Amino acid sequence: MWVHVEETTDTDFAFENRETEKLTDLLLQIDVNPYAGYPAFEGEVAGLLDDKRVPRRFKDFCDEAREWPKHERPVITLKGCPIDPDLPYLDFSDPVVDKRRRKKTYVSEAFLLVYALLMKQEPIGYANVNDGDVFQDIHPWDKLAHTQSQKALADIGFHKDLANHFVRPDWVNLLGLRQSAETFVSTSYTRNIDVLNGLSESQREVLSESNFYTPFDDLTVAGNNVRLGDAERHPVLGGASDYDIRAFENRTIGLTPEAQQALYVLVKLLHRHKKRFRILPGFLLGEANNESIHCKEIIYTPTTEALQNRWLQKTVNVADSNQHAHHFVPGRDRIVNG
Ligand SMILES: [Fe+2]
Repeated sequence: MWVHVEETTDTDFAFENRETEKLTDLLLQIDVNPYAGYPAFEGEVAGLLDDKRVPRRFKDFCDEAREWPKHERPVITLKGCPIDPDLPYLDFSDPVVDKRRRKKTYVSEAFLLVYALLMKQEPIGYANVNDGDVFQDIHPWDKLAHTQSQKALADIGFHKDLANHFVRPDWVNLLGLRQSAETFVSTSYTRNIDVLNGLSESQREVLSESNFYTPFDDLTVAGNNVRLGDAERHPVLGGASDYDIRAFENRTIGLTPEAQQALYVLVKLLHRHKKRFRILPGFLLGEANNESIHCKEIIYTPTTEALQNRWLQKTVNVADSNQHAHHFVPGRDRIVNG
Protein backbone atom coordinates (compact mmCIF):
# COMPACT_ATOMS: atom_id res chain seq x y z
CA MET A 1 0.00 0.00 0.00
CA TRP A 2 1.35 3.43 -0.92
CA VAL A 3 0.97 6.07 1.72
CA HIS A 4 1.17 9.76 0.97
CA VAL A 5 3.59 11.43 3.37
CA GLU A 6 2.79 15.04 4.11
CA GLU A 7 5.66 17.49 3.94
CA THR A 8 5.38 21.11 4.89
CA THR A 9 7.43 24.29 5.06
CA ASP A 10 4.64 26.17 6.83
CA THR A 11 5.51 26.94 10.41
CA ASP A 12 3.57 27.99 13.49
CA PHE A 13 5.56 31.20 13.74
CA ALA A 14 7.77 33.11 11.29
CA PHE A 15 10.11 35.93 12.27
CA GLU A 16 10.05 38.82 9.83
CA ASN A 17 13.41 39.71 8.26
CA ARG A 18 13.65 42.88 10.32
CA GLU A 19 13.01 40.94 13.54
CA THR A 20 15.60 38.30 12.64
CA GLU A 21 18.24 40.95 11.96
CA LYS A 22 17.57 42.84 15.16
CA LEU A 23 17.56 39.74 17.32
CA THR A 24 20.72 38.40 15.65
CA ASP A 25 22.51 41.69 16.40
CA LEU A 26 21.35 41.53 20.01
CA LEU A 27 22.48 37.93 20.53
CA LEU A 28 25.81 38.57 18.80
CA GLN A 29 26.69 40.89 21.68
CA ILE A 30 26.74 38.01 24.15
CA ASP A 31 30.34 37.11 24.85
CA VAL A 32 29.89 34.65 27.71
CA ASN A 33 30.96 31.21 26.47
CA PRO A 34 28.18 28.69 27.23
CA TYR A 35 30.64 25.78 26.98
CA ALA A 36 32.97 27.28 29.59
CA GLY A 37 30.33 28.43 32.07
CA TYR A 38 26.69 27.63 31.39
CA PRO A 39 25.13 29.37 34.45
CA ALA A 40 26.72 32.72 33.54
CA PHE A 41 25.48 32.34 29.96
CA GLU A 42 21.95 31.65 31.15
CA GLY A 43 22.13 34.73 33.40
CA GLU A 44 23.09 36.86 30.41
CA VAL A 45 20.27 35.55 28.19
CA ALA A 46 17.68 35.80 30.98
CA GLY A 47 18.75 39.44 31.40
CA LEU A 48 17.76 40.19 27.79
CA LEU A 49 14.29 38.82 28.46
CA ASP A 50 13.99 40.82 31.68
CA ASP A 51 14.90 43.95 29.75
CA LYS A 52 12.19 43.12 27.20
CA ARG A 53 14.64 43.14 24.32
CA VAL A 54 13.15 40.10 22.57
CA PRO A 55 10.32 40.86 20.07
CA ARG A 56 7.01 41.12 21.89
CA ARG A 57 5.26 39.28 19.06
CA PHE A 58 7.43 36.20 19.70
CA LYS A 59 6.87 36.30 23.43
CA ASP A 60 3.12 36.49 22.85
CA PHE A 61 3.34 33.52 20.49
CA CYS A 62 5.20 31.45 23.12
CA ASP A 63 2.64 32.41 25.78
CA GLU A 64 -0.05 31.03 23.50
CA ALA A 65 1.86 27.92 22.31
CA ARG A 66 2.64 26.91 25.89
CA GLU A 67 -1.05 26.32 26.46
CA TRP A 68 -1.60 24.05 23.45
CA PRO A 69 -2.59 20.53 24.58
CA LYS A 70 0.63 18.58 24.08
CA HIS A 71 -0.98 15.33 22.96
CA GLU A 72 -2.87 17.14 20.19
CA ARG A 73 -0.16 19.62 19.19
CA PRO A 74 3.12 18.04 20.30
CA VAL A 75 5.24 19.82 17.69
CA ILE A 76 5.93 23.56 17.39
CA THR A 77 7.76 24.95 14.34
CA LEU A 78 9.43 28.32 13.75
CA LYS A 79 11.31 29.92 10.89
CA GLY A 80 13.51 32.97 10.48
CA CYS A 81 15.18 32.25 13.83
CA PRO A 82 18.49 34.04 14.45
CA ILE A 83 21.62 31.95 13.86
CA ASP A 84 25.31 32.88 13.68
CA PRO A 85 26.31 34.69 10.48
CA ASP A 86 29.67 32.84 10.41
CA LEU A 87 29.67 29.13 11.15
CA PRO A 88 32.93 27.20 11.00
CA TYR A 89 33.12 23.96 9.02
CA LEU A 90 33.79 21.38 11.69
CA ASP A 91 36.41 18.66 11.76
CA PHE A 92 34.72 15.32 11.01
CA SER A 93 37.13 13.52 13.34
CA ASP A 94 36.17 15.54 16.46
CA PRO A 95 33.41 18.05 15.68
CA VAL A 96 32.39 18.82 19.27
CA VAL A 97 35.87 19.80 20.42
CA ASP A 98 36.39 21.70 17.17
CA LYS A 99 33.09 23.57 17.69
CA ARG A 100 34.04 24.57 21.24
CA ARG A 101 37.37 25.85 19.92
CA ARG A 102 36.20 27.69 16.80
CA LYS A 103 32.62 28.85 17.27
CA LYS A 104 33.19 32.27 18.80
CA THR A 105 29.65 33.66 18.65
CA TYR A 106 26.71 32.11 20.46
CA VAL A 107 23.63 33.28 18.61
CA SER A 108 22.19 29.80 18.04
CA GLU A 109 22.80 28.75 21.65
CA ALA A 110 21.28 31.99 22.95
CA PHE A 111 18.21 31.59 20.76
CA LEU A 112 17.64 27.99 21.89
CA LEU A 113 17.76 29.32 25.42
CA VAL A 114 15.44 32.27 24.68
CA TYR A 115 12.92 29.80 23.30
CA ALA A 116 13.25 27.44 26.29
CA LEU A 117 12.89 30.27 28.80
CA LEU A 118 9.83 31.72 27.07
CA MET A 119 8.29 28.24 26.89
CA LYS A 120 9.12 27.70 30.59
CA GLN A 121 11.31 24.71 29.80
CA GLU A 122 14.58 23.94 31.60
CA PRO A 123 17.46 22.70 29.43
CA ILE A 124 19.57 19.92 30.91
CA GLY A 125 22.86 18.22 29.99
CA TYR A 126 24.14 14.68 30.48
CA ALA A 127 27.63 13.80 31.73
CA ASN A 128 27.82 11.06 29.08
CA VAL A 129 26.56 13.18 26.18
CA ASN A 130 29.11 15.71 24.84
CA ASP A 131 30.62 15.77 28.35
CA GLY A 132 27.61 17.52 29.83
CA ASP A 133 27.19 20.38 27.32
CA VAL A 134 23.69 21.84 27.47
CA PHE A 135 23.92 22.79 23.78
CA GLN A 136 24.45 19.72 21.65
CA ASP A 137 25.33 19.34 18.00
CA ILE A 138 23.50 17.13 15.61
CA HIS A 139 26.51 16.81 13.36
CA PRO A 140 28.21 13.75 11.84
CA TRP A 141 31.30 12.42 13.61
CA ASP A 142 33.41 9.76 11.91
CA LYS A 143 33.67 7.40 14.88
CA LEU A 144 29.87 7.47 15.36
CA ALA A 145 28.87 7.85 11.69
CA HIS A 146 27.27 4.41 11.56
CA THR A 147 25.34 4.57 14.81
CA GLN A 148 21.76 5.52 15.61
CA SER A 149 22.77 8.76 17.32
CA GLN A 150 22.95 12.53 16.80
CA LYS A 151 26.42 11.97 15.26
CA ALA A 152 25.15 9.61 12.56
CA LEU A 153 25.64 10.21 8.88
CA ALA A 154 22.65 8.21 7.66
CA ASP A 155 19.01 7.60 8.62
CA ILE A 156 17.92 7.20 12.25
CA GLY A 157 14.87 5.11 13.11
CA PHE A 158 11.85 6.43 14.99
CA HIS A 159 12.60 7.07 18.65
CA LYS A 160 11.91 9.33 21.58
CA ASP A 161 15.05 10.94 22.95
CA LEU A 162 16.80 9.18 25.83
CA ALA A 163 13.83 6.84 26.22
CA ASN A 164 15.48 4.42 28.59
CA HIS A 165 17.55 6.90 30.51
CA PHE A 166 16.64 7.54 34.17
CA VAL A 167 16.16 11.23 33.34
CA ARG A 168 13.95 11.52 30.29
CA PRO A 169 13.49 14.92 28.65
CA ASP A 170 10.01 16.40 28.27
CA TRP A 171 10.93 18.51 25.22
CA VAL A 172 13.51 18.31 22.49
CA ASN A 173 14.25 21.50 20.53
CA LEU A 174 16.19 21.41 17.26
CA LEU A 175 17.53 24.48 15.46
CA GLY A 176 18.88 24.29 11.89
CA LEU A 177 22.31 25.83 11.29
CA ARG A 178 23.46 24.36 7.97
CA GLN A 179 22.23 22.00 5.29
CA SER A 180 23.65 21.80 1.81
CA ALA A 181 21.21 22.92 -0.86
CA GLU A 182 21.36 19.68 -2.82
CA THR A 183 20.53 17.34 0.08
CA PHE A 184 17.07 16.68 1.35
CA VAL A 185 17.09 15.43 4.93
CA SER A 186 13.83 15.25 6.82
CA THR A 187 13.14 15.25 10.52
CA SER A 188 9.90 13.30 10.48
CA TYR A 189 7.54 13.14 13.39
CA THR A 190 4.37 11.33 14.38
CA ARG A 191 1.84 12.27 17.03
CA ASN A 192 1.59 9.44 19.53
CA ILE A 193 -2.17 9.87 19.70
CA ASP A 194 -2.46 8.84 16.05
CA VAL A 195 -0.59 5.62 16.78
CA LEU A 196 -2.59 4.84 19.92
CA ASN A 197 -5.85 5.36 18.03
CA GLY A 198 -4.69 2.89 15.38
CA LEU A 199 -4.00 0.03 17.81
CA SER A 200 -6.54 -2.53 18.94
CA GLU A 201 -7.23 -2.95 22.62
CA SER A 202 -5.36 -6.25 22.76
CA GLN A 203 -2.35 -4.74 20.95
CA ARG A 204 -2.31 -1.90 23.48
CA GLU A 205 -2.37 -4.44 26.30
CA VAL A 206 0.59 -6.36 24.91
CA LEU A 207 2.53 -3.13 24.38
CA SER A 208 1.87 -2.07 28.00
CA GLU A 209 3.67 -5.10 29.45
CA SER A 210 7.36 -5.10 30.38
CA ASN A 211 8.26 -7.44 27.57
CA PHE A 212 10.52 -5.17 25.54
CA TYR A 213 14.21 -4.47 25.53
CA THR A 214 16.15 -1.52 24.09
CA PRO A 215 19.91 -1.19 24.50
CA PHE A 216 21.12 2.12 25.93
CA ASP A 217 21.53 4.65 23.16
CA ASP A 218 24.79 4.70 21.21
CA LEU A 219 25.88 8.17 22.24
CA THR A 220 25.36 7.61 25.98
CA VAL A 221 27.36 4.39 25.80
CA ALA A 222 30.11 6.04 23.72
CA GLY A 223 30.36 8.90 26.24
CA ASN A 224 31.56 6.41 28.83
CA ASN A 225 32.02 8.96 31.64
CA VAL A 226 29.57 7.15 33.92
CA ARG A 227 28.97 3.37 33.73
CA LEU A 228 25.32 2.48 33.22
CA GLY A 229 25.23 -1.34 33.26
CA ASP A 230 22.57 -3.05 31.18
CA ALA A 231 19.17 -1.57 30.24
CA GLU A 232 16.06 -3.01 31.87
CA ARG A 233 13.01 -4.58 30.27
CA HIS A 234 10.31 -2.00 29.70
CA PRO A 235 6.80 -1.51 28.37
CA VAL A 236 6.35 0.43 25.09
CA LEU A 237 3.17 2.21 26.22
CA GLY A 238 2.36 4.07 29.41
CA GLY A 239 5.63 5.42 30.80
CA ALA A 240 6.02 9.15 31.34
CA SER A 241 2.51 10.12 30.23
CA ASP A 242 -0.74 8.51 29.04
CA TYR A 243 0.50 9.11 25.51
CA ASP A 244 4.07 7.92 25.93
CA ILE A 245 5.58 5.61 23.31
CA ARG A 246 8.91 4.19 24.37
CA ALA A 247 10.44 2.48 21.38
CA PHE A 248 13.41 2.81 19.07
CA GLU A 249 12.72 1.48 15.59
CA ASN A 250 15.13 -1.38 14.74
CA ARG A 251 16.63 -1.34 18.25
CA THR A 252 13.73 -2.17 20.54
CA ILE A 253 12.80 -5.84 20.44
CA GLY A 254 9.78 -7.72 21.76
CA LEU A 255 10.80 -10.57 24.06
CA THR A 256 7.81 -12.78 23.20
CA PRO A 257 6.30 -13.49 19.76
CA GLU A 258 3.18 -11.45 20.70
CA ALA A 259 5.28 -8.53 21.90
CA GLN A 260 7.33 -8.51 18.69
CA GLN A 261 4.20 -8.73 16.55
CA ALA A 262 2.55 -5.80 18.31
CA LEU A 263 5.77 -3.82 17.86
CA TYR A 264 5.67 -4.44 14.08
CA VAL A 265 2.15 -3.00 14.00
CA LEU A 266 3.24 0.03 16.02
CA VAL A 267 6.19 0.75 13.71
CA LYS A 268 3.91 0.57 10.66
CA LEU A 269 1.59 3.11 12.27
CA LEU A 270 4.54 5.42 13.03
CA HIS A 271 5.36 5.57 9.34
CA ARG A 272 1.76 5.83 8.20
CA HIS A 273 1.13 8.97 10.26
CA LYS A 274 4.48 10.72 9.94
CA LYS A 275 4.93 14.27 8.74
CA ARG A 276 8.14 15.42 7.13
CA PHE A 277 9.85 18.66 8.12
CA ARG A 278 13.15 19.97 6.84
CA ILE A 279 15.04 21.84 9.55
CA LEU A 280 16.77 24.28 7.21
CA PRO A 281 18.97 27.08 8.57
CA GLY A 282 16.91 29.26 10.91
CA PHE A 283 14.12 26.69 11.25
CA LEU A 284 13.30 25.30 14.68
CA LEU A 285 11.32 22.21 15.57
CA GLY A 286 10.29 21.82 19.21
CA GLU A 287 8.78 18.50 20.15
CA ALA A 288 7.05 17.15 23.23
CA ASN A 289 9.11 14.00 23.79
CA ASN A 290 6.39 12.05 25.63
CA GLU A 291 3.59 12.88 23.19
CA SER A 292 5.42 12.55 19.88
CA ILE A 293 8.18 10.50 18.31
CA HIS A 294 10.66 11.37 15.56
CA CYS A 295 13.18 10.01 13.09
CA LYS A 296 15.68 11.24 10.51
CA GLU A 297 15.17 10.33 6.88
CA ILE A 298 17.65 11.00 4.10
CA ILE A 299 15.27 11.54 1.21
CA TYR A 300 17.94 12.51 -1.29
CA THR A 301 21.64 13.24 -1.31
CA PRO A 302 23.96 13.31 -4.33
CA THR A 303 26.88 11.99 -2.27
CA THR A 304 27.57 10.86 1.28
CA GLU A 305 30.01 13.75 1.67
CA ALA A 306 27.19 16.23 1.10
CA LEU A 307 25.70 15.10 4.41
CA GLN A 308 28.87 15.59 6.36
CA ASN A 309 28.44 19.29 7.11
CA ARG A 310 24.75 19.24 8.01
CA TRP A 311 24.50 20.88 11.41
CA LEU A 312 21.63 21.34 13.83
CA GLN A 313 21.88 22.35 17.44
CA LYS A 314 19.63 21.02 20.10
CA THR A 315 18.62 21.21 23.71
CA VAL A 316 16.72 18.63 25.72
CA ASN A 317 14.52 20.12 28.40
CA VAL A 318 12.47 19.19 31.43
CA ALA A 319 9.44 20.86 32.94
CA ASP A 320 10.85 20.92 36.47
CA SER A 321 14.52 20.26 37.16
CA ASN A 322 13.86 19.97 40.92
CA GLN A 323 12.21 16.62 40.24
CA HIS A 324 15.50 15.29 38.88
CA ALA A 325 17.88 17.07 41.28
CA HIS A 326 18.97 13.80 42.97
CA HIS A 327 20.39 12.63 39.61
CA PHE A 328 22.51 15.71 38.97
CA VAL A 329 26.29 15.85 39.16
CA PRO A 330 27.13 17.36 42.58
CA GLY A 331 27.84 21.06 42.16
CA ARG A 332 26.55 21.21 38.59
CA ASP A 333 23.00 22.47 38.24
CA ARG A 334 20.98 20.48 35.74
CA ILE A 335 23.76 18.21 34.51
CA VAL A 336 22.65 14.60 34.84
CA ASN A 337 25.17 12.13 36.24
CA GLY A 338 24.78 9.54 33.50
FE1 LIG B 1 16.26 12.26 18.50
